[in-house]
Amino acid sequence: MCLGILYDIVTCFSRREPSARAGGGPSYRTWGGETDVIHNRLITWYRMIPDRDTCFAILADHKVDEHIIAHSMSVERVALHIARLHAEQNGDGSLDLSLVSAGALLHDIAKVPAIYAGVKHSDMGADMMRDLGFVEVEPLVRQHVLLDDYTQNGAVTEAELVNYGDKRVTHDRIVTLKERFDDLYIRYGSRSPWAMEHVRQIHVHTLELEKKLFRSLSVRPDDLVDILRDKEEEVIGFHSG
Ligand SMILES: [Fe+2]
Repeated sequence: MCLGILYDIVTCFSRREPSARAGGGPSYRTWGGETDVIHNRLITWYRMIPDRDTCFAILADHKVDEHIIAHSMSVERVALHIARLHAEQNGDGSLDLSLVSAGALLHDIAKVPAIYAGVKHSDMGADMMRDLGFVEVEPLVRQHVLLDDYTQNGAVTEAELVNYGDKRVTHDRIVTLKERFDDLYIRYGSRSPWAMEHVRQIHVHTLELEKKLFRSLSVRPDDLVDILRDKEEEVIGFHSG
């Protein structure tokens, strides 16, 4: 069954609307307890990682701005490209491209409402994923600003790819890590000494992450700018439906 249709059916009946959770955290109000039960059962039956059509339906439902969608699509291109390189050059077929795609497309879903709510957009977006039943996407959205763990050991993960992809895109333009952080230091770091230190820490972590992602690949990180320029990445076609 196409997950896009499934999403339409479920959300049509459950009519989820944003509301504030007691204690300040973001949550979602639902109408109709029985539809929630159906929703949860469907999630149990199907491994609900939303396909691209469903991701765009979710973004439209939540009235996400066009420029955020464009940014997210560029993040998807970077993250998917690196995932494919790992599959091609390392024979690493463990990365789930559907999960990478969904995490990238939905990572900034709460960017604007979180500003008004005064909460972290990564946390609010993760809560939205969990409430929609996309529990596998939730950690990718929550960790897209800062990963829980920056270990050099272990296999490359989908969360690392989405986090790194987000650090390679300024607005909707794919750039080098240096260009991205030059912009972040000016836009965010200049707000306060704390903000500057925060950006600096993320920069240091991301340089380490970049080493991990590329140490076994034949391309250099900055090569991605040229590789992906004017080249439509084949992001469609890996979903079965
Ligand atoms: Fe982003």
